[in-house]
Amino acid sequence: MSSGNSFYVTTPIFYVNDAPHIGHAYTEVAADVLARWHRQAGDTTWMLTGTDEHGEKILRTATANGVSPKEWADKLVEKSWRPLLETIDVANDDFIRTTEPRHEEAVQKFLQKLYDDGFIYAGEYEGYYCVGCEEYKQESELVDGTGPYEGQKVCAIHSKPVELLQERNYFFRMSEFAERLLALYADNPEFVQPESARNEVTQFVKQGLSDLSISRSSFDWGVKVPWDDTHVVYVWFDALLNYITAIGYGNDDESRLDELWPAVHIVGKDILRFHAVIWPAMLMAAGLEVPHRVYGHGWLLVGGEKMSKSKLTGIAPNEITDTFGSDAFRYYFMRAIAFGQDGSFSWEDLSARYQAELANGFGNLASRALAMVTRYFDGTIPEQGEPTDDDLEIQKLVADAAREADAAIEKLAIHDALAHIWTIVDELNGYITDQQPWVLAKDDEQRERLATVLYTVVEGLRALAVLLAPVIPVATDKLWTALGAAESLGALADQPIRDAGRWGQLPAGTVVHQLEALFPRIETANA
Ligand code: ME8
Ligand code: MG
Repeated sequence: MSSGNSFYVTTPIFYVNDAPHIGHAYTEVAADVLARWHRQAGDTTWMLTGTDEHGEKILRTATANGVSPKEWADKLVEKSWRPLLETIDVANDDFIRTTEPRHEEAVQKFLQKLYDDGFIYAGEYEGYYCVGCEEYKQESELVDGTGPYEGQKVCAIHSKPVELLQERNYFFRMSEFAERLLALYADNPEFVQPESARNEVTQFVKQGLSDLSISRSSFDWGVKVPWDDTHVVYVWFDALLNYITAIGYGNDDESRLDELWPAVHIVGKDILRFHAVIWPAMLMAAGLEVPHRVYGHGWLLVGGEKMSKSKLTGIAPNEITDTFGSDAFRYYFMRAIAFGQDGSFSWEDLSARYQAELANGFGNLASRALAMVTRYFDGTIPEQGEPTDDDLEIQKLVADAAREADAAIEKLAIHDALAHIWTIVDELNGYITDQQPWVLAKDDEQRERLATVLYTVVEGLRALAVLLAPVIPVATDKLWTALGAAESLGALADQPIRDAGRWGQLPAGTVVHQLEALFPRIETANA
């Protein structure tokens, strides 16, 4: 089964009822940063994302637009969802669509197994359903409608009326798993994170679990129930299975599954219960391992409410990247919002951080350092001399920051990792101010001191490029090339990230190159 050095990370598979907004991009970037970090650490890494294409929500959207659900899904996937990954520079290893045969066939195998093993029975469902959530609702979860829905009970999330269902359905014996789930949360506190999410899920299961309706018969846009083709599988039961169907569950050869499973699931807190309650219960019933972790991150808010497709409050990711670039998008959301908490996006904050942290902090440091190597040492990185206490302090800081950043990533605290790495940027800027290399350059007797100071700065930049590559891959690649490190150390992606803090890797004698502006000045109406 999985060894300590395999890392399988997933995003939710997103509904194709509409195009993505920055909330979806946020989840993608977080998962991608974690995947890139582990990949660069040499761990067996796999990042999966994709689209959720069945169910009533997609069927109704397609019908309203006068096309078949498959045509609708094809268009959204090719025009919007796959391009999103390029817009924000996500290096996923696979993209699964729930309409693919590899998924549908494996879903049927999973269902048949649970049916044969007695975990599924036919019953009568009567209750509420929210098509926006694709979720069965208890009366206690509904709120009073306002505006056009005055006097009606509506879904608390979508503010739209729920529907009363009365259907003969197949049920999954989820109630049997409540005790085992509670034991899982108690024995393995890391299973659901952050802490607030764990508490919420524990409270929910403590109230007792009912069996779950897992099929629908009033429409047919879904995976057919294998023993009864008048039913399609409930869209969430179908969707959750993507995490194992994509890595070969149900194939003759399940070696990929054996190597990668269990996964780390990165999801928004809106869909925590599906992942931390229903999904592990499904896996337990099938005799499979539960996920390694379920992490429910916070929401991007607009006017205090969750940004959403259905409320038309979404900002398209390219509205940001067209002006600021993909690196700035990635950096901003990973740095400005503590992972696990809600956050509000603001153009002012993005613009201010771009200028202060990326352009003036990091970009300037790189361009000053390279300019001085060019001016004072003819573009060749000099040999460092005997280090002073100031130099040793920088060396220690780099080692500490690299270690702390890796520990933070291990805890999925991406913002903390960035804060640790950024101490190198700030300290190196302070070091240059203190050491005044431009003064040393005027004195021939200080030649060795000048060499040591510049070596210290460019070696610090070497470590920064390696540590920041998972977050800002475009800028760090430019820096890597300019440092001449591509020739002397090989490709940036091949630099082992857990070794980034070891001092003295950039060889003296390396010839530097022209540095393209990492974070150019931006003139914009928004900024
Ligand atoms: O729920 N802030 O798909 P979905 C942060 N198909 N993240 C946000 C966000 C916001 N305002 N809005 C959306 C589904 N997200 C199911 C998932 S998985 C087996 C099936 C992100 O299109 C966040 O990751 O509604 C959230 O959980 C997800 O998009 C919901 O996407
Ligand atoms: Mg949603």
